[in-house]
Amino acid sequence: MTSVFAKDNPPGSCGPNGSFLADVMTGLASSHKSLPAKYFYDATGSKLFEAICALEEYYPTRTEIGILETYANEMAAAIGDNAMVIEYGAGSMEKIRILLNVLTDPVVFVPVDISEAHLIAAARGLCLTYPDLDVQHVVADFTKPVLLPAPPRPVARRVVFFPGSTIGNFEPNQTVEILRSIGDTIGPGGGLLIGVDLQKDEDRLVRAYDDAAGVTAEFNLNLLARINRELDGDFLLERFRHVARYNRDLQRIEMHLQSLVNQAVRVASRTFNFTAGETIHTENSYKYTLAGFDDLAFRAGFRRDQHWTDEGGMFAEIFYHRTR
Ligand code: AVJ
Repeated sequence: MTSVFAKDNPPGSCGPNGSFLADVMTGLASSHKSLPAKYFYDATGSKLFEAICALEEYYPTRTEIGILETYANEMAAAIGDNAMVIEYGAGSMEKIRILLNVLTDPVVFVPVDISEAHLIAAARGLCLTYPDLDVQHVVADFTKPVLLPAPPRPVARRVVFFPGSTIGNFEPNQTVEILRSIGDTIGPGGGLLIGVDLQKDEDRLVRAYDDAAGVTAEFNLNLLARINRELDGDFLLERFRHVARYNRDLQRIEMHLQSLVNQAVRVASRTFNFTAGETIHTENSYKYTLAGFDDLAFRAGFRRDQHWTDEGGMFAEIFYHRTR
């Protein structure tokens, strides 16, 4: 088990280990340039992501909310009474409300996120709606096992709620690793309710990541703006364009930032050269079949109990239990 305080940079420290700076240097120096998708979410990026969620073309958010609203009672029955509910990547904590409205005697809600500021603001709001609910946030990187707080009374079961198809950002092997660490976190008898985006026609997928209003483009380009702001970069945003394409072999949407010209960019006193047409790979968003995701979950020690989808079969909310 790793510490709850697995933050990138402890206060007062900086340098080449485990930080935005280190990851940008490594990503831009590699032969296939890339940047980790987790860095999209600074204050501007988080606002832009909220705007994406409201777009007509971006179906996952509203589809998942519809599924949760339609089947909340069945999900609450699957979770059971007196549960500890742990939310991974808890952003606005809007989706958990749909479950909290129908869960019987949840013992404690544990939102987990890397941003403490977001956690505190959203958790306060939640407490105002559910004054009897104990909320204990944990600042942690959910790709590793999370050290849980001591519950105020005995817990029947620990259940991780991992909505939003955030899991789609990770490579399949890393997904198995994350699911295994969820298994470690929930312990024997634990459950996992996870939102997974399903395979569908390519047009629909590409439009969801390349919207007509250009919000996703702005979201993608904000990564360069963030590097300029935080790492003394001199990216000219108008010399890059947003690209979203479906990689059919790997069944994933890829986002890239494509250099329009030959150019040199400085970041933190280093120079990185780009050729015209070269891209920085910024995100993968894997799309699964139910059977395909079951296979990964099985490798991580989970078996499916139930699943719920929308009429169009676009998105799935899947409930797994730990098998060992
Ligand atoms: C937050 C990872 C689920 O992959 O659909 C949305 C992020 N990127 N539009 C996704 C995202 C571009 C989103 N996840």
